Amino acid sequence: MRRLLITRQIAEPVIAAARARFDVTLGRDALSEDAAAQALRDFDAILPTLGDAFSAGAFAAAGVPRCRMLGNFGVGFNHIDVEAARAAGVMVSNTPDVLTDATADIGWTLILATARRAGEGERMLRAGRWAGFGPEGLLGTHVSGKTLGIVGMGRIGQAVARRGHFGFGMPVVYFNRSEKDPDFPARRIDTLAGLMAAADFVVVCVPGGAGTARLIDAKALAAMKPGGIFVNIARGEVVDEAALIEALEAGRIRAGLDVYENEPQVPARLIACENAVLLPHLGSATVETREAMGRMALDNIIAWADGRDPPQRVA
Ligand code: GLV
Repeated sequence: MRRLLITRQIAEPVIAAARARFDVTLGRDALSEDAAAQALRDFDAILPTLGDAFSAGAFAAAGVPRCRMLGNFGVGFNHIDVEAARAAGVMVSNTPDVLTDATADIGWTLILATARRAGEGERMLRAGRWAGFGPEGLLGTHVSGKTLGIVGMGRIGQAVARRGHFGFGMPVVYFNRSEKDPDFPARRIDTLAGLMAAADFVVVCVPGGAGTARLIDAKALAAMKPGGIFVNIARGEVVDEAALIEALEAGRIRAGLDVYENEPQVPARLIACENAVLLPHLGSATVETREAMGRMALDNIIAWADGRDPPQRVA
């Protein structure tokens, strides 16, 4: 039987299905670069996820790996150096589509919680600081009818925008490399600064990786409307976190974040910002979605084991 490493606990039915086909080892903690190199040497296939460091260094340290297939659990795979994987003859797949709705829903959780100051309100109530209903208490920003700006109009960006258009009557603008043709009205804006300036709510949905690192810099944040709401459900590295903290500390904007530059570390200065809603990377975290992701990752590994092309192959 081929040896498969599943680097973290995933849904039991998926693990059971994996055990029927492979000699499975179940990991517990995120793999460091050294541990990833060792895993590449020891296993025929790996089902890794975010935080497992399959960097160029890991591939270099592994030499000629025994592993031939990384069936990633997650749509984002910027923790895997795909060039190094390709050079080492290791296939890579991911799990698109199955997490689109769950991730768009977290985008909306953040839009609403930030606009309506839900985090502040909850903290106040739990701390026993609520003095009762007041006409001026914790006033937020109206959402319906405001302009929604999407950075990265892929599957998840379109799902966030669709909810905004149909659910909240929002005009949608977007910044994307190519023109898109969604099933609702949306206007493409040519420049990032133009998008940031036009929207009341900016939601970042681009994939992580070298091409989008620090795409949202101090200049882009400065282009936002005063009081604008910035939401990131993509990757922390897409945003200059220090510049974002400065904009929040200055009280210029508010933010809802699901992702951070050095997860799970979140800067103390960011935690101190009352005008930010901070979630611990929950984008795809529903029981149904996580099981579907596991099944898709495993199906890709089974396809590889059967000599077929993995359907969600990315390298
Ligand atoms: C989660 O962030 C994913 O990329 O699936």
